[in-house]
Amino acid sequence: MTTKNKKDDSPILEVTNLKKYFPIQKGIFKKIVGNVRAVDGVDFSINKGETVSLVGESGCGKTTTARCIMRALDPTSGEIKFKTKNNEIIDLSKLSKDEVRPYRDDIQMIFQDPFSSLNPRMTLFDIVGEPLLVNGMKAKKEREERVSEIMHQVGLRPEYMMRFPHAFSGGQRQRIGIARALSINPSLIVADEPVSALDVSVQAQVLNLMMDLQDQLNLTYLFVSHDLSVVSQISDRVIVMYVGKIVESGTPKQIFESPKHPYTSALLSSVPKADPRLRQERIVLKGEVANAADPPSGCTFRTRCPNPTDDCRDGNIEMGLIEVSPGHWVDQCCVNCG
Ligand SMILES: Nc1ncnc2c1ncn2[C@@H]1O[C@H](COP(=O)(O)OP(=O)(O)OP(=O)(O)O)[C@@H](O)[C@H]1O
Ligand SMILES: [Mg+2]
Repeated sequence: MTTKNKKDDSPILEVTNLKKYFPIQKGIFKKIVGNVRAVDGVDFSINKGETVSLVGESGCGKTTTARCIMRALDPTSGEIKFKTKNNEIIDLSKLSKDEVRPYRDDIQMIFQDPFSSLNPRMTLFDIVGEPLLVNGMKAKKEREERVSEIMHQVGLRPEYMMRFPHAFSGGQRQRIGIARALSINPSLIVADEPVSALDVSVQAQVLNLMMDLQDQLNLTYLFVSHDLSVVSQISDRVIVMYVGKIVESGTPKQIFESPKHPYTSALLSSVPKADPRLRQERIVLKGEVANAADPPSGCTFRTRCPNPTDDCRDGNIEMGLIEVSPGHWVDQCCVNCG
C-alpha cells in the first residue's frame, strides 16, 4: 500500500446537522404515527485527498448518511456543502433532483455487492462506458479508448471489454464497479461496504487498488464499513455512529488506541486479533440497540451504558461532542463512562 501525499486542509465536503427521518405510516389513510430517526444531527467534514470512514453497528445510519450525500435520498434537514472542481461551494441539500444533476458526476458511489450491482446483460464496455455516453461522449472509438485506459488502471485486461460480468470473479467484479465509478473523473467517492462481500485475501487487493487510485487520481473517499480492521488500515479519520448520531471521531490512532466512548471500546473489543497474546476480554454491552423510531430520553446511549445516571436519562448533561485532544471528539455525556 502506498502512502498518500496529496491531502490538503480544505474541506471538499462539509455536512452540518444532517437529519433524515423516515415517516412511519399506519392505516389505509397512511397517517404518520412517528419517525425512524435514521440520521439525527450529524456533523463532519472531509478534506481533499482524505479517507474518512463511517463505522457502527447495523442500522446506525451509515448508508442513509451516504445516500443523503449522494442525494439518492432527500435529507429531512441540514447542510451538505460540496466543493466542485471549479472550487464552487454548493449546498447539495438545498438543490432539487434536476439541479443536483450537473454535480452528480463529481461524486460517485461504489456498492457493497459486486454480484447484484452490475447489470448481467451489459458487457464491461457498456457498464464502464455508460456514464461516458450519458455525459455526451458519443463516439464509440473515444469511449473504447477511455474504457480501455480505466480498465488498465483498475487492473483488468482491456481485451475483456466485450465480456459480461458473470465471467469475472468477485474481486474482478468489484474492480469493474470501481472502473465505472471512476470513468467520468469524480473527485469524491462514496464507498458503502465495498469489500464486505469479498474473501479476505481479495479484500486486501481491492483495498490496495483503492488506495493506489487515490494517490494517482487525487481522490477523496467516504468509506462506510462495519469492519474495524479494514478501517484501521486505510482511514485518515474515523467516525463512530450510534443510532443516527456521531458518538466519537478521531484519527485511527486515537480511536483504536485510546477510545473514550464505551460504545467504541465495545466495538473494538469484538474485532478478532491475529495474535492470541493480544486478545482482550470482549466487552458485551447490556441491552438492545436503541430503537431509532423511539430513541430513549436524554442520552441515546444510556440504555446500554455501563454507568448511566439519572442525569443521562433526564438529559441534564450537555449533549454533543467535545474535543478531548486535538482532533479527537467524544460525546460529552459518555466521555467519562468508559
Ligand atoms: N427507506 C427506509 N424506510 C424506512 N426506514 C429506513 C429506510 N432506510 C433505512 N431505514 C432505517 O434507518 C435506519 C438506518 O439504516 P441504514 O441502512 O442507514 O443503516 P446502516 O448503518 O447502513 O446499517 P447496515 O450496517 O446494516 O448497512 C435503520 O433503522 C433502518 O431500518
Ligand atoms: Mg448500510
